[in-house]
Amino acid sequence: MTASGPPPGKAWAGRFAQGADPAAEAFTSSLSFDRRLWPYDLTGSAAWARALARAKLITDAELESLLAGLDAVRAELEGGAFPFRRELEDIHMNVERRLVELAGPVGGKLHTGRSRNDQVALDERLYLRDILDHVDAGLREVQGALLAQAEQHREAPMPGYTHLQRAQPVLLAHHLLAYVFMLERDRQRFREGRARVNVMPLGAAALAGAAFAIDREVLARDLGFSAPSPNSMDAVADRDYVVEFLGSAAIFGMHCSRLAADLTLWATAEFGFVEFADAFATGSSIMPQKKNPDVAELMRGKSGRLYGNLTAVLTTMKGLPLTYNSDMQEDKEPLFDTVDTLEGIFRVLPPMLRSLTFRTERMREAAGAHYSTATDLADYLVRQGLPFREAHEVVGRAVRHAIAKGCELADVPLEELRGFSALIGRDVYPALTVEASLRARAVIGGTAPDAVRQQLAHAKALLERDASS
Ligand code: ARG
Repeated sequence: MTASGPPPGKAWAGRFAQGADPAAEAFTSSLSFDRRLWPYDLTGSAAWARALARAKLITDAELESLLAGLDAVRAELEGGAFPFRRELEDIHMNVERRLVELAGPVGGKLHTGRSRNDQVALDERLYLRDILDHVDAGLREVQGALLAQAEQHREAPMPGYTHLQRAQPVLLAHHLLAYVFMLERDRQRFREGRARVNVMPLGAAALAGAAFAIDREVLARDLGFSAPSPNSMDAVADRDYVVEFLGSAAIFGMHCSRLAADLTLWATAEFGFVEFADAFATGSSIMPQKKNPDVAELMRGKSGRLYGNLTAVLTTMKGLPLTYNSDMQEDKEPLFDTVDTLEGIFRVLPPMLRSLTFRTERMREAAGAHYSTATDLADYLVRQGLPFREAHEVVGRAVRHAIAKGCELADVPLEELRGFSALIGRDVYPALTVEASLRARAVIGGTAPDAVRQQLAHAKALLERDASS
């Protein structure tokens, strides 16, 4: 096709003497990806038709024809019979053109007082509102799977790490619950963002506001929005609600990647703390003995794409003069990719977590090794009245002595320990066990079994409350 003569059917054919260059048309078309907005485009269009009727811009009979036509379009889209036309650029023009074909010339009245600029903002907000409800349910399922494992391992000790060096004993449940609370903040972030998504841009028209007496308060209520946007230029120019969603998803991705990193590390022969079910691992094409934690590795890797999508939209929006610019069409693929990535994670992460087998014996053994209760010896000395800094110094020397002997602190005879401080008595040994170390940390949020039981109850209450609300 050559670029000559006015094209049949472009919405702007009146102004143009020449048809579109095929490469330009392909380059500007968003239909291949924005078609997924069709359910929201139809919902928004029906509400706009009702608003036009309320403002007496169309008759009741015309409203009925428009709504029937939109229903017919919906039926085609649902049934896969809708004739998508790339030359109509995007989903909005595709729907409108089909409406005119099915409902007749009255279809041409739908776009009265509306622009694709407020229309696309509306569609995105309706879409995101829906997605946010899925995201909340997905996050809750991940939390539920972590919680179930934590409950099953309420009393199982493991080494806690700082700098990836054994630090102090903790309960496995405590470690797992750390992620439950991180995900709780992710849920809050998405939920708080929803309040900013739930504002209605329709009626902003191209940028200056509709030139017809549309009651935007009623329209906002009709579509379930909390309020109409207060400024039409802001309404069509900004995509901060997309950026915020992508930001929350990126933070969730960071949390996921750390959980996945812990699990892949724990699944190594070196740690040997956990085993993935065969269903959530893969083999090697060359090394017959291998079982790779691919699902967890990819979970870790997905954070890169989630960050990338955030960065892409932030960068696209930066420096754009008000109001709408076509650059903003580039917000959709990152948005949809993040949604698809989240949904993929929500499908696989909960069952993968439920399938984990923890090697609690080995974790317990590691929890007590490598001077993990040295801090407890210092705390013991503090309870005898020694300032902590001095106690730290004393225990440091004792540890060096034990390392030289090749034994643990609890294996150093009392006389030798007393050589480092006369405050040390026979009652020091029970204070150096894993159990005593755990029990001592009974502060709110600590790793003592009672404190962890409280965290479990807290986390359970969070999940139950949200399930019923
Ligand atoms: N496909 C466009 C987008 O995604 C819809 C809005 C187009 N508006 C316009 N004036 N070209 O942003």
